[in-house]
Amino acid sequence: MFKLDCSNLSPFLPADWLDSRADALAHARALLETGSGAGGNFTGWVHLPRDYDKAEFARIQAAAQKIRSDSQALVVVGIGGSYLGARAVVELIHSPNYNLRKKDSPDIFFAGNGLSTDALAEVIELVKDRDFSVNVISKSGTTTEPAVAFRIFKALLEEKYGKEGAQGRIYATTDARKGALKGLADAEGYETFVVPDDVGGRFSVLTAVGLLPIAAAGIDIQALMAGARQAMDDLALPGTDNPAWQYAAARHALYQSGKSTEILACYEPSFRFFAEWWKQLYGESEGKEGKGLFPASVEFTADLHSMGQYIQQGERLMFETVVGFAQPRAAISIPHDPDNVDGLNFLSGKALEFVNRQAMRGVTLAHVDGGVPNLSLTVPARDAESVGALIYFFEYACGLSGYLLGVNPFDQPGVEAYKNNMYALLGKPGYEELKAQLEARLD
Ligand code: PA5
Repeated sequence: MFKLDCSNLSPFLPADWLDSRADALAHARALLETGSGAGGNFTGWVHLPRDYDKAEFARIQAAAQKIRSDSQALVVVGIGGSYLGARAVVELIHSPNYNLRKKDSPDIFFAGNGLSTDALAEVIELVKDRDFSVNVISKSGTTTEPAVAFRIFKALLEEKYGKEGAQGRIYATTDARKGALKGLADAEGYETFVVPDDVGGRFSVLTAVGLLPIAAAGIDIQALMAGARQAMDDLALPGTDNPAWQYAAARHALYQSGKSTEILACYEPSFRFFAEWWKQLYGESEGKEGKGLFPASVEFTADLHSMGQYIQQGERLMFETVVGFAQPRAAISIPHDPDNVDGLNFLSGKALEFVNRQAMRGVTLAHVDGGVPNLSLTVPARDAESVGALIYFFEYACGLSGYLLGVNPFDQPGVEAYKNNMYALLGKPGYEELKAQLEARLD
């Protein structure tokens, strides 16, 4: 399992920060493992890497293969937990430049994750003259953003390929029984995949929600699940040497010591969307009842030239969790320059990775000296197995952490407030009274 280096917490926390939470962690573990805590009917993800539906998994692989053979692009329509996981994994394992690279898998475009006209128009422009398929993903099947985008891409596909042709290019991932998307998929005869009842959106990346687009992008989903399975077995073991216990306890101890913000940092730009996925995971799971660490993220070393100033000397409200990968895939060494006008010959012949590592070491010490506690997680590689394990690590630690905090980590009641206002302002039937109230306030 990964190593979580907690040594840079010692200037900030009492020596017993972990041991003093061992009983609470054992209790949180039991709640997670048995599904008997708050929100326990949404803990299907805990044993998913072992218990996942193998027949559906084979259908996902077959559908991905079909998409790879008949499509130059795949449009993934979904928002929140129905989008972030797939994008996180594709970018982390492949690259943020995945679509620009030479490959034998389709370009992947994400749509329906907002309401921007220009963003949607851009995706339409990029796919309309190419062979493409659509994977529409919505657990509830009623979320406005993906529903609107899907209407548009469905019409585009039907115009291009006819109703029947479009039917063979639309894949719907949704609830097994209910919701408008399920009804539509059944009526139109789309191939459907299931978001299990007991898995919430932000914990769904290892279901068809994430697996179909990830497989279509040519990533080995068997290896992804194998990595998650190994993590599941390792992290179920009780004890203060368990890195998920350490991470959950450290977050709780730092929160109780007055820290209000956790910054997730990485020195790999391909990690950016993984951090977005992590923000949703922790933000939606813990930010409720007036409680919870605010999850933020930075990309180093780029953000050392922007947020670095605040982190070093601004209000002392944060700690950092740094994710590092043991080895880069490529090797670049810094060339010798006989003129040495830039004064960099002291680095000639050195690997760029060596420079990155020294930056990381120097930043950690500078930030700790500046009052920012530091946790450091080392992941062996940017491959499917390690990323599967990393997903499971953060999910499991999130469940533990939520229970330590005393919240239900598996609901998101706050998301409804904006939806109700938006429905009312749009004139959705049934919202007339709220519409009148809101418009009176806005006028
Ligand atoms: O984590 C969650 O539950 C949310 O972020 C949902 O994933 C998001 O609101 C999208 O919901 P749905 O999949 O029902 O369209």
